[in-house]
Amino acid sequence: MSIVGKVRVGMAGGGSGFFGAPHRRAIIMDNTAELTAGALRLDPAESLLTAERLYFKRGYRDAKSMHAIEATLPLDERINYTTVVTPNNSHFPIAQDALNNGFGVLCEKPLTTNLADSQALVASVERTNLPFVSAYTYTGYPMVKLAREMVLNGDIGDVRKVQTWYPQGWLADAKDVWRVDPKIAGPSGCGGDIGTHAYEFIRYVTGLSATEVSAKLTSFVDDRKLDDDFEARAVLSNGAIATISASQVTIGSQNDNGFRIIGKTGTLEWSNTDHQTLKLYRPGKEVQVFRLGVEYNYFPERLKPYLRLPSGHPEGFHEALANHHRDMESMLRGQSHYHYPGVHDGAAGIAFIEACLESNLKGGASIPVAAVENPDYSTYK
Ligand SMILES: NC(=O)c1ccc[n+]([C@@H]2O[C@H](COP(=O)([O-])OP(=O)(O)OC[C@H]3O[C@@H](n4cnc5c(N)ncnc54)[C@H](O)[C@@H]3O)[C@@H](O)[C@H]2O)c1
Repeated sequence: MSIVGKVRVGMAGGGSGFFGAPHRRAIIMDNTAELTAGALRLDPAESLLTAERLYFKRGYRDAKSMHAIEATLPLDERINYTTVVTPNNSHFPIAQDALNNGFGVLCEKPLTTNLADSQALVASVERTNLPFVSAYTYTGYPMVKLAREMVLNGDIGDVRKVQTWYPQGWLADAKDVWRVDPKIAGPSGCGGDIGTHAYEFIRYVTGLSATEVSAKLTSFVDDRKLDDDFEARAVLSNGAIATISASQVTIGSQNDNGFRIIGKTGTLEWSNTDHQTLKLYRPGKEVQVFRLGVEYNYFPERLKPYLRLPSGHPEGFHEALANHHRDMESMLRGQSHYHYPGVHDGAAGIAFIEACLESNLKGGASIPVAAVENPDYSTYK
């Protein structure tokens, strides 16, 4: 697929609430893409009104009609991909429908609410060869990409242990939101919502995956049907061990996610609270602090497209999210791109959560994690 002019983006969901707005800003950040078509609300009439209010070129009643009608338009007018920002239970049908109509997909996490649906998406992507990005936002940070470079380059030696964390406190008391409703959120609350982000740090930065897990999922709030706290211990594919901790009842914590990768010769540490720095610890040496900025030569050329400003000019969350749309755009334009989280990473997140749910039911027993291959999607070799 090669595109002349701006990339044309469709959006399903996100017409109200939280995460549609950050995606819209991320899509247009570099002025290389436009908001072309939207089916932005669950209610069809609201969907049409919201698309008009948000200046989408074309509004639709629902995602299915958006895909069906866009697919009949000339190639240089129809959307190139759909951004799926609906609550979890509709990711699968919408993403599958987009692929079936010939559109790429940038899909929110958790990819689906069960592994069978995730595997069906993997099969569709492999059959159609369409680009698919799983929106694990934090892997879009340049410092997280630099951490991957350093681990794969052997800068900390063989990985022995990984610690990842994602505490929040906003569900410490009862709230009537879809994230605590299993019919919409899926079978895990905290685990699916943010434990998947913490797990993806392991896959993205180290290239390793969990082969077995032991987990404890807790619902601290009375009558809550889903976990609001999630603790897992995993064995990784190289024999290393990992702890994955997520919580929505940790009062005081907001989005303090991060990781520590502990290797044979050093430790790398990154935190969302200080996301423009990456720290490297080596025995007997001063901590080495890498800072964000296009002029720093420790960023290899292949990472430069993911940085936008010289040092001292803060970049942040929107830029990280924009980097996922940038990867989608690079694929559509046939340009080089770095390793991004693809459909396999989305599916691996669900395989991990399903194993954790089973382990929890069995009192923390060690449970094998269904293997999802971890291809290197990078076109830089
Ligand atoms: N990657 C991240 O960092 C991140 C952050 C926040 C949310 N998310 C994910 O984004 C998704 C949306 O979360 P949110 O907090 O924005 O939810 P939200 O409830 O705030 O907003 C959802 C929007 O989608 C619309 N919608 C619902 N069903 C729809 C359907 N079938 N078709 C079209 N529109 C529909 C709703 O009307 C609403 O406008 C979730 O899957 C969530 O896990 C990811």
